[in-house]
Amino acid sequence: MTRLVTQWFCAVLVAASAAAQPAQKVIFDTDFAFPPQDDSLALFFVLNSPDINLLGITTVAGNRSLNVATADVLKILEATERREVPVYEGAAAPLLHVGTDWDRRTHGGWYSNPPAREPPGGFATSKRAERQGAVDYLVQTVRAHPREVTILAIGPLTNIAMAMRMDTAFASNVKQLVIMGGAIAALPDGAGNHTPNAEFNIYVDPEAAQIVLRSGIPILLSPLNVSRKARFTKPWLDRILATDTPITRLIREHLGPMYEARPDRVMLMYDQVAAVSLVAPSVAKTEELLVDVDVNPGPSYGVTVGGRERWPGGEQAQPMQVQSDLDWDRFIQLFVERVTARPAPMRRQP
Ligand code: RIB
Ligand code: CA
Repeated sequence: MTRLVTQWFCAVLVAASAAAQPAQKVIFDTDFAFPPQDDSLALFFVLNSPDINLLGITTVAGNRSLNVATADVLKILEATERREVPVYEGAAAPLLHVGTDWDRRTHGGWYSNPPAREPPGGFATSKRAERQGAVDYLVQTVRAHPREVTILAIGPLTNIAMAMRMDTAFASNVKQLVIMGGAIAALPDGAGNHTPNAEFNIYVDPEAAQIVLRSGIPILLSPLNVSRKARFTKPWLDRILATDTPITRLIREHLGPMYEARPDRVMLMYDQVAAVSLVAPSVAKTEELLVDVDVNPGPSYGVTVGGRERWPGGEQAQPMQVQSDLDWDRFIQLFVERVTARPAPMRRQP
C-alpha cells in the first residue's frame, strides 16, 4: 500500500512539473534499429512524452549501418503515425576507427554501409529523410536556440564531434548532452560489454567520444553501470501489451515472440534509461566524476576512465554527472506509463 501511494505521488510530481514547464527541446541522435533494439524503445518513450519537444532525429552508424538506422527510423515513424518528426542522416563511419575482422564477427554494422535491408513490413512509403545532413542540422538548430537544446546521444558520438568541429561555438550553445555510453570501473558493475572494459557506443568511435567528453558541454552520462540495473522481464512486457496502440502493437510483434520462446529472458535497458532521465533525472543517483576516453591503440582502446580526483594521465578529463545507481521502480513505472499512453493528435511545438 505504502509503495502504491509512493508511486502515485511520484507520478503526480512528474506530471505536475511537466505541466508547469515548457516542453524541453530535444534532438535524438541514434544508431537506430527496429525493436528489440533499445534505441527504438527509447524513441517510443520520447514520442509519448508531452514534456519533450522532439525537434528532430539524427542517425549514425553503430548497432547497424547508417542506411539501416535511417530506413528503420523512417519506417517506425510511419508505423506510429509520427511522420511530422524530421529525420537527418549523419555519419556512415567513425572519425578514424576502421573495423577489423573481429569487429565484423562481433556486434554492430558500423564498419560498412551497404544498401539497407528492408525493415520489417517494408520500407517507409511516404516518409523520407530530410535533404540536410545531420551535422549541418545539429549546428544550425543549436545556433538558432542557444542553450535551449538538449541532445540525447544514444549511439557512437560521431555526429556530435563533427558538429563541434564544424562550429566552435557548438559546445557552449548546447544546453545539455545526455549520453548513453561508457563503463566506469571506479563504480560498481563497471565492466565493458564489447571489449573487457569498453562499452559499445564509445568503442565504435573513441576519437569522437574523446572530443565530446573533453568539450566542456554539460554532460549527464548514463553508463553500463546503471543499464545493468534496468532488467526488462516478461511481466513488464505483459503490462505494456495490456494496452493496444500503434506503439504497443510494434512491441508485441517484435518482443512478443522472443518472450514466448523464452519467458525467463532478461533484456538490459540501455538507451531507455538515458531517455527517461531527460524528464525524470532523479530516477538515477549521480556522482560528479572526471571522465576521459582512452584512444591509444591497444587493450584499452575505447575505454572510459572516471575518477573522483585527477590522476596522472587524466589531466584532460572533464567533470560530468555520471549515473551510478537506478531507482528501478520509478524508472520502469514511468517508462511503461508513457510507452502505453494513447496517442495525442499533434505534439510538436514551434
Ligand atoms: O552498449 C549499449 C549501447 O550500444 C546502446 O546504445 C545500444 O543501442 C548500442 O548502441
Ligand atoms: Ca543505441
